[in-house]
Amino acid sequence: MVADAYDIRTALPRPLRVLMVSAELAPFARAGGLGDVIQGLSRALGAMGVEIVVVSPLHGSAVAQELPTLRPWPRPLWVALGGDVREVGVLETITAGDVRVLLLDCPSLFRRAGIYGDDSGAYPDNDLRFAVLSAAALQAAESVWDGPPDVLHAHDWHAALAIAYARLSDQVEWRKAASVFTIHNLSFQGVYPTSRASTLGLPDSVLHEDGVCHEHQLNFLKAGIAYADRVTTVSRTYAQEVLRPGQGSGLEAALAARSTRLVGITNGIDTASWDPSRDRALAARYDAIDPSGRQACRSALAAELGLDTSGNAPIIGVVSRLIPQKGIDMLADMLPALVAEGMRFAIVAFGDPELERRIAQMAARWPTRVAFRPVFGDPIARRVYAGADIFAMPSRFEPCGLGQQYAMRYGSVPVVSAVGGLVDTVEQVDESAGTGTGFRFDPVTPEAMADALRRAVACRRDEPLWSRIVRNCLLHDRSWDVSARQYFALYRSLAGAPPRPSLPPPTAVGSASP
Ligand code: GLC
Repeated sequence: MVADAYDIRTALPRPLRVLMVSAELAPFARAGGLGDVIQGLSRALGAMGVEIVVVSPLHGSAVAQELPTLRPWPRPLWVALGGDVREVGVLETITAGDVRVLLLDCPSLFRRAGIYGDDSGAYPDNDLRFAVLSAAALQAAESVWDGPPDVLHAHDWHAALAIAYARLSDQVEWRKAASVFTIHNLSFQGVYPTSRASTLGLPDSVLHEDGVCHEHQLNFLKAGIAYADRVTTVSRTYAQEVLRPGQGSGLEAALAARSTRLVGITNGIDTASWDPSRDRALAARYDAIDPSGRQACRSALAAELGLDTSGNAPIIGVVSRLIPQKGIDMLADMLPALVAEGMRFAIVAFGDPELERRIAQMAARWPTRVAFRPVFGDPIARRVYAGADIFAMPSRFEPCGLGQQYAMRYGSVPVVSAVGGLVDTVEQVDESAGTGTGFRFDPVTPEAMADALRRAVACRRDEPLWSRIVRNCLLHDRSWDVSARQYFALYRSLAGAPPRPSLPPPTAVGSASP
């Protein structure tokens, strides 16, 4: 789209302007699905003609080979927050989809080994780190557009204060800018004592339970919920679940109060970067028309991991973080029984040291039946998605989940708990009709999970049926386009909406220069 074209979709004399703020952005730095989502969504929106700027920190863990593309801005931002003024450099690049990426370079806050913490836990100054991200993002947008965007879209608690700061700005244009807050995971909220408020530039006027506080503490996520025009979660089912008693991580009431403004938009995946017909990490390439290359990928995976698949034993793949959410402890409980029944396991996962130790012990005990690689992500993850027959994802809760979507894209059939985004993305197999893309189990117990794995293994014995299920997986379109269109419709509905009541009393946040 030409830069100043009239956009019939928004009735704006130029493309819609969206500012995305996120702690993670692939391919630069990612700790989980968030980084992938920001990359895929922004690319799809850019390709739709949205003028999109993504602001994220330049982390110490940023992937080195991505850095040469970045160009420094001639002048840094001077970010004023709680009486301090910090120098924040900006490195810019344009990525696929014409997305303008701005990485904030503040060495003392962001150039650290981890994104959120290190071996001794979360960084104690994460509140300040992410407050600076939020305030600097607004200032960076000012430099790009000479004013606010049409829509400010903040992701997870780390970026939530951007929405509060916009509402508190001394500039009326910022107070009027539409805002969307996306919750990727309600269980991380950013909770800090209210005594931190002044350091973070939060005035007394917002320090209450209808504002940025929850149970008398500062709660970043709550700030996003309270002040955004729309709150979204990353799947429709998760949006319903979080309103149920006990399932909203203590924020049920706050979410219920905004329930008419709560929307679920299911994540897509980046089908360009996750494409088995072009993936160089694989032993062979394949697609739905000719999936025969999967067999070579399967043999290569078994050889790489030392798994004995004689007798056509099924390979169950796992790619996960070892945190209670993901339910891999339930799988570990059932592993001896399932291994005895002939299943083989390819587990790529890291996190909880105790669970790592348990799985490693089993891998040492049955080296040709259980393979364990305590690492995060690519490229071995890709070989598991391509080479495993079945993909296990027994999450206790799952806002969306990307692993099951990558698995289907690569033709390994998911066995998942019937929660959150897993319900929305995995269609239950009907053996008699040959329809569906996976097996969902409910309740979320080790026994129900084991039964669903057995059902999948039984289905695999019927080769023509199994080929159909695998093909259903390979054919299912889960690209970002559908979700990006839903976000676009949401932005468009907000960009022209009547102004909302303003917050008392506005104070200057994030807009000072020395
Ligand atoms: C979080 C959620 C996961 C979701 C991802 C991206 O990691 O736990 O379910 O897929 O964010 O939105």
